[in-house]
Amino acid sequence: MINKEINIKYEEYASIDELNAEDRELAGAAIEGMKGSYAPYSHFNVGAAVRMSNGQIVRGANQENAAFPSGLCAERTAMFAAGAKYPDKDMQSLALAGGIYGRLTEEPATPCGACRQVMAQYQAKAGKPMSVIMIGARRVWKFEKVDDILPLIFDSI
Ligand code: THU
Repeated sequence: MINKEINIKYEEYASIDELNAEDRELAGAAIEGMKGSYAPYSHFNVGAAVRMSNGQIVRGANQENAAFPSGLCAERTAMFAAGAKYPDKDMQSLALAGGIYGRLTEEPATPCGACRQVMAQYQAKAGKPMSVIMIGARRVWKFEKVDDILPLIFDSI
């Protein structure tokens, strides 16, 4: 038997103002994206934004439904919209932010497992790392690649 370990590296920023210009713009779009949230059940508004290889930013927000499984997270809303709009472009980075009744959470919003799996697929499609920025009022985290938030990714059968 061998004991093994997986190390995850990520960057922590005091606020989105510390991010580089591109990431700051993307983070701003994710926060702005929260306005598109339709969350009559949880009242948890999530916004996401994807930067494409052509520089375009596509936003998304969580959409809830009375038939619960029919709703969708902000991240997948953004990625699926981006994939549909720019099928030939790569997704370079994704930012997300969340808050109750539109007020940003103190700690960074972290994506659910299903959204991480979808990120992994678009990263594999691009063949390049896709960075993920998680925004909170108190701190901001940046992960260089999806592998860092979904170790041992399911790739394909
Ligand atoms: N939600 C997201 O949009 N993204 C996440 O990463 C986690 C959860 C949404 C789903 C639901 O509309 C609400 O937040 C409460 O779970």
